Amino acid sequence: MSETTADILIVDDEQGLRDLLVFELGTQGYRVQTACDGLDAIEKLKHGSYRLAICDLSMPKCDGMKVLETAKALHPEMEVIVATGYGTVETAVKAIKMGASDFVPKPFNIEDMLAAVKRVFEKAPASGPAAGPEACRALRLEAMAQMSAGLARVMNNPLTGILGLSEMLLKNPSLGPKEREDIACICEQGRRCHVIIDELLEFSGGVTLTRRTQDVRPLVDAAVLEMKGDLESAGLRAEVEHSGELSPVCCDGPRLRRAFAQLLANSLHAADPRSSKVLRIKTSQEDGRAVIRFKDEGCGISENRLPHVFDPFYSTRISTEGVGLGLSAAYGIVRKHGGDIRAESQVGEGTLFVVELPLQSV
Ligand SMILES: Nc1ncnc2c1ncn2[C@@H]1O[C@H](COP(=O)(O)OP(=O)(O)OP(=O)(O)O)[C@@H](O)[C@H]1O
Ligand SMILES: [Mg+2]
Repeated sequence: MSETTADILIVDDEQGLRDLLVFELGTQGYRVQTACDGLDAIEKLKHGSYRLAICDLSMPKCDGMKVLETAKALHPEMEVIVATGYGTVETAVKAIKMGASDFVPKPFNIEDMLAAVKRVFEKAPASGPAAGPEACRALRLEAMAQMSAGLARVMNNPLTGILGLSEMLLKNPSLGPKEREDIACICEQGRRCHVIIDELLEFSGGVTLTRRTQDVRPLVDAAVLEMKGDLESAGLRAEVEHSGELSPVCCDGPRLRRAFAQLLANSLHAADPRSSKVLRIKTSQEDGRAVIRFKDEGCGISENRLPHVFDPFYSTRISTEGVGLGLSAAYGIVRKHGGDIRAESQVGEGTLFVVELPLQSV
């Protein structure tokens, strides 16, 4: 196998951005080279080899699409993360179809880019160009995340106004009972909307994590404890197994615990109340990651529905008040930690959710 010239080639016509990436990726121990435009990148690709290129799509002279095409032609095993501005999702779709392995919207948060790079280096080297279903799914969810972030932002202000004013009105001692009841109802509905907006923000990655280095196992235990009563009433017995060593994770504990609780709540809804079933939760350390598996014996998810379960507002529980944001929020939180979440399922057999989180680097 030929020696790589560097781990990563950064292709961007903005000097400031190149400098930032060189610094941040260099600090993480990656060997980095840069190209100041598409033509420069193509020259470098002709003479060198890289595991990954981070490529801006809109550049003068020769755009990122041409760079991507050249990279895939010269080095089919090379991974490419494309970075592109808001409103150019269609171009990004094209890039994914051409073999880009991931997509990070610009302007990007450096944490999100570092997480995307980490995901590339943690997986086995690719055997050829592939715009697999995973990349397409990530892209679709990213487009929805952009929209959700916008929606959450514009809805937040009017809602804060409605809530603030109605709470103030409620303090008025001269209110009659009927008026009080109506205003209390406005407050209650407003709070429900707030919860929806918070979940949309979590899905879109628009939240700031408060991280601390900690063991994830107590977070799993706390989520199970929180749901214990409801699980038992649904005839579900939760069995938690913490096997072997597990190094700490740098994470936002309350947010992760909520994400785990969402998975448990879904198993509860999928359980058949007429038969008692076991919900198995297992933590382990695999390939330098913390892995948490949630396996239920519920109704399962059909093959055509499975790719949509993380989509916002996708729910088969509309009649039982499902909003369709539980898994979307869990997805956003796990991705924000640089991790991944996936589902496997068989109708009538049950469902497995696997959460993977990067361990705190030493
Ligand atoms: N463990 C599971 N077993 C079977 N189906 C599941 C499971 N988890 C998720 N699903 C399916 O995925 C859909 C989306 O789940 P999600 O948690 O996002 O929304 P929801 O549970 O319907 O509503 P909520 O916003 O209250 O969580 C569910 O409606 C259900 O169809
Ligand atoms: Mg749910």
